[in-house]
Amino acid sequence: MSDHYMLHDGILFPKMVHDDISLNYATNEFQVRDDDVFNVTYPKCGTVWMQEILTLIKSNGDTEAFLTIPNWDRVPWIEQMTAKQLLENQPSPRLITTHLPAHLAPKSLYNSKAKVIYTTRNPRDACISLYHFCTSISFLETPKNLDDFVQKFLKGEVMFGSWFDHLKGWLGVKHKVEIMFQTYEDLLKDPRGSVIKICKFLEKDLDEKAIDSVVAHSSFKSMKENKMSNWSLVPPEMMDRKTPFMRKGQSGDWKNHFTKEHIDLFDATYKEKMKGMDVKFSWDSL
Ligand code: A3P
Repeated sequence: MSDHYMLHDGILFPKMVHDDISLNYATNEFQVRDDDVFNVTYPKCGTVWMQEILTLIKSNGDTEAFLTIPNWDRVPWIEQMTAKQLLENQPSPRLITTHLPAHLAPKSLYNSKAKVIYTTRNPRDACISLYHFCTSISFLETPKNLDDFVQKFLKGEVMFGSWFDHLKGWLGVKHKVEIMFQTYEDLLKDPRGSVIKICKFLEKDLDEKAIDSVVAHSSFKSMKENKMSNWSLVPPEMMDRKTPFMRKGQSGDWKNHFTKEHIDLFDATYKEKMKGMDVKFSWDSL
C-alpha cells in the first residue's frame, strides 16, 4: 500500500487529512441533528458542485457565504481531522459533506430525520476525473499510468474504496434514511430542474429569482472563477496547478482517454458488479 494512505475497515483513506480518531469520531461520536443536510458522494462525482448548490439554497440565493468562505468550511467533510472543530459548534441547519460508505456514516444518522443527497456519476468519468486529481494532489498516490489506475479503480484500490460498493451501500439504506438520489449527468442536463427538485426535497421554498441565483452561481464557469470554490486556495505544494480542480466539467470525457481494452474491462466489471441491482442509469449501456 502507498505511504499516502491508511487502511480503515479495509478502505483506503488519505493519511494527510484522516486518521483513526477522525474516522471513529465520524462514525461513532458525531451527533447528527434532525435538520442537518448531508452531501454524500463517492469522490469526483459532484461533491463540490453540490456543496455550492446547498450553500446557495440555504442562503436563498444570496452569495455572501459562497464568495467569502471556502467550500470545505461551509460544507465540511465529516471524516476529516478538522470536522469536530468545524461542525460541533456550528448553528443549525448544518450542511455536511461525506465520502464515507453508508456503513461508516454516523450511527446517529440512522436515528435522525436528517436529509441526505447522494450524488453519483458515470463511473467511467469519475475514474478519469480521479486519475487527473491523483496526478495533481501531493497527498494522493500518483498513478503509474492509466492502465494501472483503471484496474485499481475497478478493484476499489483507490481512496474511499469501490464506486460500486459505495453506491450499493447507500442504496441499501434508502429505507432507513431520508435520502434523495441525484446524478451528475442530470445536473448537467437540467440544472434548474435539478435545483427545483433538491429544494422540494429539502422543503425549501425559493422564489424564481433565488433559484436563478443558485443555478447561475453553481455553474461550472462561475465556480471556476470563484476562489472559494475552485481550490486555488490549496497551497501550491499540495496541488499542482497544471490540472485545475475545475478541470472539464463534462460528461463523456472518458471517451478521450480509454482504450478498447479499458472499455472492455470496464464494461465487463460494470455488468458483473451491477448484476441484480434494481436501479437504472443513463450510462448503463454505453
Ligand atoms: P472533471 O475532473 O471531470 O472536470 P468532486 O467535487 O466530487 O471532487 O468532483 C469534481 C468533478 O466535478 C470535476 O470533474 C469537476 O470539474 C466537476 N465539477 C465541479 N463543479 C462542477 C460544475 N459546476 N459543473 C460541472 N462539473 C463540475
